Amino acid sequence: MSAADDALADAFFEARKADLERRLKPKRFRHSLGVSQTAETLARTYGADVSTARLAGLLHDWDKCLDDQAIRDRARDLGTDVPDLVLQAMPQLLHGPTAARALAREFPQIPPEALSAIEKHTAASVDMSDLDLIVYVADVIEPSRSFDGVDKLRRAVGRVGLEDLFVLVFQHSLENLVATGKRLHPDTVDVWNHYVERKLKREGTPSGAAKGR
Ligand SMILES: [Fe+2]
Ligand SMILES: [Fe+2]
Repeated sequence: MSAADDALADAFFEARKADLERRLKPKRFRHSLGVSQTAETLARTYGADVSTARLAGLLHDWDKCLDDQAIRDRARDLGTDVPDLVLQAMPQLLHGPTAARALAREFPQIPPEALSAIEKHTAASVDMSDLDLIVYVADVIEPSRSFDGVDKLRRAVGRVGLEDLFVLVFQHSLENLVATGKRLHPDTVDVWNHYVERKLKREGTPSGAAKGR
């Protein structure tokens, strides 16, 4: 990017940051800044585009200010294609997809790679790009997060590959949802199996079905 492009990207980033501060509660705004900074660090570590990563991290929770009904209405208005179970029972999982669509409409200059990462940061997916993985991970390990095991996840940055890092973080999220009796997104099993299969292949471990009891 030229110096002029950099200045334009910086101005756009600062303007959306100001928008975000008006949209979100202070704690959520601080979280968004943390995700942006962490996504930037991860992009440097794993060779992704730093400017796109920090923008996607900043904007990933753009729609987190909406309550359940407002999210449902927004998903319908934007034509977001979602399973009925998600729409009815876990509408908050739609804040990624609705944000990506709304931002694309309002700010056509946002790169599609950033919109993809914003869309997938809630439920993940089986076809995630490096940037998608980075924003997913940054959302969980940014500095204001504090939960048992977060330091272990942070220490893995740069020590394991990006997909292995995502698997560690996704595993943590999944364990936490089950442990606290929460519902799972219908795609979660597919996502888990997809990335575990790839990890086993990377490790040269024979793939096998789960053992029966
Ligand atoms: Fe989110
Ligand atoms: Fe978030």
